[in-house]
Amino acid sequence: MKILLTGSGGQLAQALLPCLHSQGYEVHGVDHAQCDITVPDLIETVFSAVKPAAVINCAAYNQVDRAEAEPAAAFAVNACGPLYLARACKAHGATLLHISTNYVFDGASNQPYRETDCPRPLSVYAASKLSGENLAQSHWERCYIVRTTGLYGLAGRTTRQGNFVETMLRLAAAGNDIRVVNDQWLTPTAAADLAPALVRLLASNRFGIYHLTNSGSTTWFDFARAIFDLVGLSPRLLPVSSQEYRVAARRPAYSVLANAAWNALGFPTLPPWQNSLTRFFAARN
Ligand SMILES: NC(=O)c1ccc[n+]([C@@H]2O[C@H](COP(=O)([O-])OP(=O)(O)OC[C@H]3O[C@@H](n4cnc5c(N)ncnc54)[C@H](OP(=O)(O)O)[C@@H]3O)[C@@H](O)[C@H]2O)c1
Repeated sequence: MKILLTGSGGQLAQALLPCLHSQGYEVHGVDHAQCDITVPDLIETVFSAVKPAAVINCAAYNQVDRAEAEPAAAFAVNACGPLYLARACKAHGATLLHISTNYVFDGASNQPYRETDCPRPLSVYAASKLSGENLAQSHWERCYIVRTTGLYGLAGRTTRQGNFVETMLRLAAAGNDIRVVNDQWLTPTAAADLAPALVRLLASNRFGIYHLTNSGSTTWFDFARAIFDLVGLSPRLLPVSSQEYRVAARRPAYSVLANAAWNALGFPTLPPWQNSLTRFFAARN
């Protein structure tokens, strides 16, 4: 079965490649330079050449704060991109698996969000991702939407966007005080765990919205502390509130996701985030 992997230069796509290969899929990865998902003609050219049975869209505009000043750029990639891919999938009879985010929720809950909960995005980035979900789903029924949180993978070391783990290590190496918010809850999720789960989901033919994360929850501050504990560093790490830590985009205070639809398919809960972080550093080193 042929899979087209868009945004193949990103950290999740890089974790997916070996998983898909190991399951016998024939994978055609296209990075940003090879297929800009905001250009329908380019998508059509790639579809005609590859003739994929399924598309996994890992391409995204992920700069949450910058999106506040660049809504057109964020919506082009995160909303129009999935729409164009869904249209192409429909025209060619291919399944679409599209990745979204916990930030579609407003964070007012104190219980893990389920797939059936009503999204209320607080930022341009979040609104663009929710639009992408809606546009893809409304144009093509053979569509999986997978929301995840706090993603980090080995490729984040070299990708343009990086990830929170690499940012923390870079700040520690610079020797400055590190201020991290201590009032936003999430589940750090390893691309190494998410990728095989996506491959399983793809084979299920049970289309719809899924929440997929490691298990447990923490704050960004405690996530940072766990990172430094594991690598044996002790930079000056300061907890701050979201109010003190001024950034352009609002983030949800609580955006832990219940993996209810995934579990309902009989699939096992993904490992605790702490175990996955330990495994990540074993592989990174
Ligand atoms: N990172 C997180 O914490 C997080 C949390 C929740 C959900 N997610 C979602 O998970 C998915 C994967 O994220 P990730 O962390 O793997 O992202 P990533 O490492 O930033 O990769 C995204 C890729 O998309 C490419 N891209 C950007 N614009 C494009 C365009 N117009 N056409 C084609 N490719 C384009 C980027 O290429 P260039 O760098 O060359 O532009 C990059 O290689 C995304 O949908 C993201 O929204 C991520």
